[in-house]
Amino acid sequence: MTRPDIDGAAGLDEFIATVRELEASSAQLLSRAGDVEALAEAKRDSLGKRSKLAGLNAVLGKLSAEQRREAGAVLNEARSRLEELASARSVELESAERSRRAEAERVDLTEVLARPSGAPLGAFDRRRGHLNLVTQTRDELEDVFVSMGFAVAEGPEAETDWYNFEALNMPPAHPARGMWDTLYLKLGEPETVLLRTHTSPVQIRLMEAKQLPIYAVMPGRCYRRDTPDARHLPVFHQIEGLVVDKGITFGDMAGTIEEFTSAFFGEGMHSRLRPSFFPFTEPSAEFEVTCPICGGSGCRTCSGSGWIELGGCGMVDPNVFEAVGIDPEVYSGFAFGFGIDRLAQVRQGLPDMRALLDNDIRFLTQF
Ligand code: PHE
Repeated sequence: MTRPDIDGAAGLDEFIATVRELEASSAQLLSRAGDVEALAEAKRDSLGKRSKLAGLNAVLGKLSAEQRREAGAVLNEARSRLEELASARSVELESAERSRRAEAERVDLTEVLARPSGAPLGAFDRRRGHLNLVTQTRDELEDVFVSMGFAVAEGPEAETDWYNFEALNMPPAHPARGMWDTLYLKLGEPETVLLRTHTSPVQIRLMEAKQLPIYAVMPGRCYRRDTPDARHLPVFHQIEGLVVDKGITFGDMAGTIEEFTSAFFGEGMHSRLRPSFFPFTEPSAEFEVTCPICGGSGCRTCSGSGWIELGGCGMVDPNVFEAVGIDPEVYSGFAFGFGIDRLAQVRQGLPDMRALLDNDIRFLTQF
């Protein structure tokens, strides 16, 4: 700033011009301040005790009384306009700062820190969860079977003794009923209504409907009076398969299971059957698949055998056909069933199945 000439009218004009210049440059400084600290500094520079504007107070004293009145008014107006500008800018900056902080410190307790399945590790989607591993596995199984020409069917979880046992060739007091630890419901006569112990009752429901031929899979929840441990859950999931048509053979069953195994687990994965017993199939077998953890070379999961037992299967017993009114001389068929949770456990190498129910977000977000 050049000191204004304090003598005469020229002195006043120059003073006023200086005030205007200072006001303009200070206004720019204040409105450009990007945050609260920068604004405080701009305020100090424009309006503080050592500012050029404050320096003009000293000059005022050197003007004539008349000039001083006018010059003082101009100076005061400029100062109060700048103060207003500064406080308006301060309101703006503080509210921006508040919303920035609120966003940074936001805690949403309903938020699931989940990685969308298939996304690379570390790619977290902060707003969306995803399906549980068991549901994902069921969906994948359905996809594979649908691609092989099967339909998907469902049945009730609360069943009668007839569907869960009797029609499946297990008359009352049949010792094979002991294969399943049953939870009965307090409904009707004692031990007549129960929580299904397997998905096999849906076989009966489909066959009773008699829309032949049948090529269907039936996924769903099952219940057994089991104490939860690393390999058992009292509430679990199975998927049942049923084929009923003319001329269906054991070879068709073995081929279907083999086809499923490589479609679901991948090329190079195989299946094998071992003799077993189920009341509703004859002959019956247990089917095993190549251990998905070691690929068949033998590891801890498969106890060194290279194979993992997955489920049961067999040719539909003629007694079952008779119970539902299908002529076993005309039709034949096969059925299979296995645990979806067990499958997920084996495939992912989960040491303890209970993790599927714990709802620990650190576990669930891995799948
Ligand atoms: N329902 C049997 C089980 O839960 C499995 C099975 C299904 C066996 C179909 C044979 C045929 O153990």
